[in-house]
Amino acid sequence: MADQWKADLVGVERTALVTLYLRAVESRSEDSILCDRAAAEAVRHLDAGLRSLRMRLTVGDRYLVVLRSRQLDMWAADFLARYPDAVVVQLGCGLDTRVFRLDPHPGVRWFDVDLPDVIGLRRRLFPGREGYRTIGLSVLDPAWLEEVPADRPVLVIAEGLLMYLAEDEVRRLLLRLTERFAHGTLLFDGVPPWVVWSSRRLPEIYGEFTMGWAVRDAREVERMNPRLHRAEEIAVISQYALVPVRFYRLLYRMLDRFPPARDTLRMFRFEF
Ligand SMILES: C[S@@+](CC[C@H](N)C(=O)[O-])C[C@H]1O[C@@H](n2cnc3c(N)ncnc32)[C@H](O)[C@@H]1O
Repeated sequence: MADQWKADLVGVERTALVTLYLRAVESRSEDSILCDRAAAEAVRHLDAGLRSLRMRLTVGDRYLVVLRSRQLDMWAADFLARYPDAVVVQLGCGLDTRVFRLDPHPGVRWFDVDLPDVIGLRRRLFPGREGYRTIGLSVLDPAWLEEVPADRPVLVIAEGLLMYLAEDEVRRLLLRLTERFAHGTLLFDGVPPWVVWSSRRLPEIYGEFTMGWAVRDAREVERMNPRLHRAEEIAVISQYALVPVRFYRLLYRMLDRFPPARDTLRMFRFEF
């Protein structure tokens, strides 16, 4: 029998199990959008910690997560096609399997950064590969920046991370990125203020963690760090046409007509 690892992450670290699990179940369906085989394989090694998640998550949740991952994969693949010697940094990487999905050229140096317990579980679940490293530090600790070379084009991806930080922490992180790296692309997603508000008031839905930072407008990010320039912005729900299950496709299509619902989760590409 395959090795079993305890999925005993707590607090915000536990959210890494949620996204892994949603990508894994979606990838098992015949009409999968993401086809994330590494995620499906990884959950086979995780124990009862995942069972409590299963009860709370709906089929609709999985499409938000896989549509987000798919779009970020597309932006990342485009960057890697232009810069085969790039550096990639994933902040708050969790148990994400992007490096396996994109399978970059061995010339790419890829760094996945998350809190130590998540990185510990990650190292047990996934094999190493050439050019790939994990860093078990908070993204708020500037020490991780010293571990990443600054002499190549850099792609920074923060998927499902910034909403868990406080506004001032986000500002400091964004400033540090452009102090360390001369040029690059930053990909991240963000939630509107009403989602942050409800995460504080509905703990039974959001679990043991709360959200801290909402993106009202991309210009706010440019004001936080004037070296960042918004290049693209896409609402996850606006990609409803890709959803294979008719009920959810129609639901997302309906939500797409109401900006507060459509903008529940938006993805951003910034250049610097
Ligand atoms: C919703 S999960 C997303 C994980 C991954 N990006 C994905 O899409 O599957 C949020 C992740 O952010 C990480 N995280 C939250 N605060 C962090 C911090 N200060 N430093 C590093 N990672 C952090 C959590 O541990 C968790 O793995």
